[in-house]
Amino acid sequence: MIQRYVDGLLDRLLEQRQIDFVADLASHVPGHIIGNVIGVPDEDCPQLRIWSENVVQFFDVARTEEHKLLAEQATTEFYYYLRDLIAQRKKKPRKDLISTLIAAKSAGELSETELISTCMLILMAGHGSTIDVLGSGMHALLRYPDELVRLRQNPEYIHTAVQEMFRFESPLPYFHRYASEEIEVLGRRYPRGTKFGLLYGAANRDPNQFPSADQFDIARAPNRHVAFGKGAHLCLGNHLSRLDMEVIFLTLMKRVKTIELLEDEPKYKKGLSVRGPQSLQLLLAAA
Ligand code: HEM
Repeated sequence: MIQRYVDGLLDRLLEQRQIDFVADLASHVPGHIIGNVIGVPDEDCPQLRIWSENVVQFFDVARTEEHKLLAEQATTEFYYYLRDLIAQRKKKPRKDLISTLIAAKSAGELSETELISTCMLILMAGHGSTIDVLGSGMHALLRYPDELVRLRQNPEYIHTAVQEMFRFESPLPYFHRYASEEIEVLGRRYPRGTKFGLLYGAANRDPNQFPSADQFDIARAPNRHVAFGKGAHLCLGNHLSRLDMEVIFLTLMKRVKTIELLEDEPKYKKGLSVRGPQSLQLLLAAA
């Protein structure tokens, strides 16, 4: 499904040649794929992306009152949209995740609120961050052209290359978490419930964990980065987002002969909670 969708997008973009990689390619894929898995009609996927981006604004440490209002409005609209979709699927179940979750609710395993919030969480969670890391991953390959050539010549590095993109430019550089029990960190004790700000982006450049941490190395192994968190709450969608990326980059390596960056310094999004280029202007030549 991912391959078919990416090929269709590239057919058009290779004719267009000059593209914004973020707006024209990256931003279409994750929402379309997760939307399909859940069971959202194709034509509604672009709207989900807008809601997701607005909801996520709420988690930014630098959020303003305006962001909060936007997030609240998006959450409300998203909620009613999913409630209607669930009502439709209840009448006519399909082979999609939403129908499976509805069956779990009927079996008493989920409440109505849990059903809606689970769909919302899954639809929102990987959307923006996969778009961001696709953009920063592409940018990294263009900043380190030797690594781009290496990937072209050795497509079997795709798994480690994508993991390195997550380590090198973690799309969620900061996240907060609460201690579920009393804990000692660097000789200091913190009570249960303490709120911690976790700097995943900084941890992923820790020279004690990663030799030549500031070097982008598509064959890096081992690569125990924490871009998806760690432990019991390790990202549920980490395989899916890596699969989206592997298909996209492998397809680009196969179908595009040259990729030229048309701007000197692409602008990155502001804020601690997200990291990725706002746009990435490229010139493509088909293979
Ligand atoms: C670039 C892509 C993604 C990044 C960087 C990312 C990152 C994260 C992080 C840091 C966490 C918290 C882990 C922790 O608490 O230690 C998380 C949790 C989660 N992610 Fe992702 N994620 C991505 C894609 C996705 C996708 C595509 C989905 C859904 C299909 C998804 C669904 C979830 C869910 C449901 C959780 C909560 C898991 C739990 O609390 O047990 N994520 N993700």
